[in-house]
Amino acid sequence: MSQDTIFQVSEADAFFVRNQKTLTAEGLGERDPVLHVLADFGLTPTSALEIGAANGFRLEALRRLTGCQATAVEPSAVAVADGNKQFPKVRFVQALGHELDGFSAGEFDLVIVSFVLHWVDRARMFATAAALDRVLMDGGRLVISDFLPDRPQRVRYHHLPDADVWTFKQDYAAFWAASAIYKVEEQRVYDYRTRQPSNTAPPDQRFAVTLLKKTLGGYETRALPALEAQGKS
Ligand SMILES: C[S@@+](CC[C@H](N)C(=O)[O-])C[C@H]1O[C@@H](n2cnc3c(N)ncnc32)[C@H](O)[C@@H]1O
Repeated sequence: MSQDTIFQVSEADAFFVRNQKTLTAEGLGERDPVLHVLADFGLTPTSALEIGAANGFRLEALRRLTGCQATAVEPSAVAVADGNKQFPKVRFVQALGHELDGFSAGEFDLVIVSFVLHWVDRARMFATAAALDRVLMDGGRLVISDFLPDRPQRVRYHHLPDADVWTFKQDYAAFWAASAIYKVEEQRVYDYRTRQPSNTAPPDQRFAVTLLKKTLGGYETRALPALEAQGKS
């Protein structure tokens, strides 16, 4: 069974049931590092998508703060049912991050992916990145929040110790920034144990919230040398 299938059939629901009590929209603007970076940069999206949104608690808080259209993609049926009940103004789609074909290209000006990429099946990592990129408009923002070890590592998923399931921890913002199509506007580092900003947290206890801007035409222009200088006429 692939890692994606394991999450789809059981672990996505199990995560939600274990964490349901903490996934609330009330007062989130004060305590959520993702909402902090958006507020600090004065970003008021028109149409926001969150991948792995659980019951849409963050999107609901963002919607209340900015009035944006909010769309949640989440594989857990239990989380989607809870979100539809609690947050009826958020649109829910039960799917994995690479399954975004139902959305138009450039439909969103903000995409959030928080503590999800380390769960993505490695066979789907590039497909997931491509799907996120397709639905984000040129000039839009991508916020990635995830663990920040000093080098890529895989760790056996401790809730399923007998299954061949891993989490993959690495600097995911670097994955997008390497394209040169995404520019890092801000990266904030936190201690996972305290959820507070930290420059001293050990690499295996760090996470980062990174704000990236998608800019298709953002390349530095290098002038062509004259044809004679290239040995052509
Ligand atoms: C650790 S929780 C994070 C929830 C929320 N984004 C947050 O920041 O608190 C990971 C979420 O991603 C979902 N998920 C797992 N694999 C996924 C995938 N391949 N694509 C999209 N969502 C996924 C899980 O069901 C779960 O709701």
